[in-house]
Amino acid sequence: MAIREVAGEIVLLDIKEGLAEGKVLDMYQTATLMDFDTTLTGVTNDYAATANSDVVVITSGMPRKPGMTREELIGVNAGIVKDVVTNILKYSPNAILLLVSNPMDTMTYLAQKVSGLPANRVFGMGGALDSARFRCYLAKAMNVCSNDVDGMVIGGHGDTTMIPLTSKASYKGVPVSEFLDKETLAKVAADTMVGGATLTKLLGTSAWYAPGAAVARVVESIINDEKKVFASCVHLDGQYGQKDIYIGAPAVIGRNGVEKVLEISLTEEEKAAFAKSAEAVRKTASVLTEIGAL
Ligand code: 2OP
Repeated sequence: MAIREVAGEIVLLDIKEGLAEGKVLDMYQTATLMDFDTTLTGVTNDYAATANSDVVVITSGMPRKPGMTREELIGVNAGIVKDVVTNILKYSPNAILLLVSNPMDTMTYLAQKVSGLPANRVFGMGGALDSARFRCYLAKAMNVCSNDVDGMVIGGHGDTTMIPLTSKASYKGVPVSEFLDKETLAKVAADTMVGGATLTKLLGTSAWYAPGAAVARVVESIINDEKKVFASCVHLDGQYGQKDIYIGAPAVIGRNGVEKVLEISLTEEEKAAFAKSAEAVRKTASVLTEIGAL
């Protein structure tokens, strides 16, 4: 976000003493090397320093360890996210909240309920990241430039709930099925779905760069009112046959947050996958009530 100068000032806040200050100092020292003018501030737990934020990105919580699913984090992360949302709103009542904490669909649902904010002002980032991973794997399989490949991942942000929309993916407007056989496409979709888990296995913790870059692009679209379409974890009110749920769907992102949820046509197979994904996302969200978080 600093490099792209999406905001005049960025404040990093962490609960761990000195961590945000240290990260910020390291990043700030690149200002003349990376040629950015963004002001960076790092604080330990000092929410007053975040006052009047336009956008708040919530990544707080325990990251995955190798072999863990995102869903296993729900108990501990629900408490953390609730606390963070409450503190943020004390100082930035008009902020748009962008959720990254896992399990992301559940944490976004929780953040909206806890904050009482209109649904357009609370949404989750997962789809932007999953779609970037999908495009990356498609480009690798085709041995072409990633930016010439388009593609989107909808559904939940989980290893088994993601739906890479292979039928709609294209290379310069031409369906990817003209370049890749069925087996390769199925492998690309499977690799995309475990894109995060693969990194967790390699690194021992969550991914950093791609989630960070995906956040930066989404925040940029909000601040500059770009109205770009990102697959995002959004509140559905009848679209795709679903209500009272937060799940990934294409959405127009602008100064008002989620300005529109696009209801695109899906194949019968994709429709069935979406219904199944929604059922799983709903089941995870129901844990919030079971553990008393809602
Ligand atoms: C990921 O997929 C951290 O859930 C995030 O990398």
